[in-house]
Amino acid sequence: VPIGGAKNATLPILVATLVAPGEHRLARVPDLADVGSMLSLLGRIGCPSLGHAGLVSVDTTRVIYNEAPYDLVRKMRASVLALGPLLARCGEAHVSLPGGCAIGVRPIDQHLKGLEALGCQFELSGGYVHGKVEKLTGGRVRFDMPTVTGTENVLMAAVLAQGESVFENAAREPEIVDLVRFLRSLGAIIEGEGSSTLHVQGVASLTPAKAPYAILPDRVEAGTYLVAGAITGGDITIQGVNPGDLSAVLDALLSAGCTIDVGDDTVRVRREGPVRTVNVTTEPHPGFPTDMQAQLMALLCLAQGESEIRETIFENRFMHVPELQRLGANIDVFGNLARTKGVRQLTGATVMATDLRASASLVLAGLAARGRTEVLRLYHLDRGYERLVEKLQAVGAQVARVGDDPRERAGQPGAAA
Ligand code: EPZ
Repeated sequence: VPIGGAKNATLPILVATLVAPGEHRLARVPDLADVGSMLSLLGRIGCPSLGHAGLVSVDTTRVIYNEAPYDLVRKMRASVLALGPLLARCGEAHVSLPGGCAIGVRPIDQHLKGLEALGCQFELSGGYVHGKVEKLTGGRVRFDMPTVTGTENVLMAAVLAQGESVFENAAREPEIVDLVRFLRSLGAIIEGEGSSTLHVQGVASLTPAKAPYAILPDRVEAGTYLVAGAITGGDITIQGVNPGDLSAVLDALLSAGCTIDVGDDTVRVRREGPVRTVNVTTEPHPGFPTDMQAQLMALLCLAQGESEIRETIFENRFMHVPELQRLGANIDVFGNLARTKGVRQLTGATVMATDLRASASLVLAGLAARGRTEVLRLYHLDRGYERLVEKLQAVGAQVARVGDDPRERAGQPGAAA
């Protein structure tokens, strides 16, 4: 299974182009709804793009609006990442508050606190964050908890601040490392990526790199297909990945009884014996990623015995549980702890996707369930998985997109699978 560019690296990198006026070229851009949303946001700001996937160019020579409007932010909360770059570029920005989402409240207080440390001032009114800064000045940024987009938002401003900034308790995700590498290709001076302390030396200006920047592979897409191999007792090899970004996921799959072979940019997973129980707690990187929690839970529904899954990042990320129960899973939830008791077999049913990774876990469970499983509200999947059905079909899965579900016509676009 070929793995594409990471959604959660593409989104910050696309908006980071604002800090360096000119034409940027990006390679390995995944063909995802969220990427499309970010390209339309850039278009609204006055930065046209060519291409929507693969090799994409964005021209940020001119910025005519410094606003991320509600209708776009509502669809994709990552639009809030426009705040830091627009403040650095224009000194003023108006970004709609993202509002909550299915998995939690998702506040942005740490984004604002970090940008305030660089001299920005904010006021909230009409559902928007209105920010302005006279002179962006380097400072000490200390996050109360590691926040991925919080670290990214503040970093995209700090690179153009006057003087040095020190980030403490910064997020360590590979997507942060990729953003730092991209910013460095524009001339930014940053050290410490991948650790919880970043040092940024602000520069007066940045310019687009000559060569296209290749986005790092998507470790969550990669992990999802590894679980597909594990849950079906199959034999899957994923290609074009950084195995080092997957350590916590590989450890969990090994404990679950899989055989794992790691190559330079490939990982092969097989499972001949029974699924074994695994206890896992989601943590900031390099711990077990919250974005893989729902997928691993689907696998553990078939383990021999009881597993405990603790979700510590988001307060409501068990929406897949009642849907997995419809497939016959035996799961009890106590606050942020889910306890699965393995069953011999799941049985197909119609289930509802609720958020991006939950919908992936339902597809995975459906691959292993006896009979037909219908997953509704696929627009959730299309946000983060490129050509999921084709990639699964290519390795023997019996899966297809079927016609629109009438219940969806009222709600959202998309089809059932
Ligand atoms: C990013 O979300 C990812 N999204 C998420 O992936 C991922 O699940 C998450 O990081 C954790 O890894 C993108 O990168 C676009 P956080 P983000 O800020 O940045 C709290 C997916 O499926 N917090 O690291 O929004 C927050 O409530 C998506 O692709 C504050 O309290 O997550 C959470 O409990 C889902 N105040 C914790 O920190 C803030 O200002 C970590 O959130 C910011 C965050």
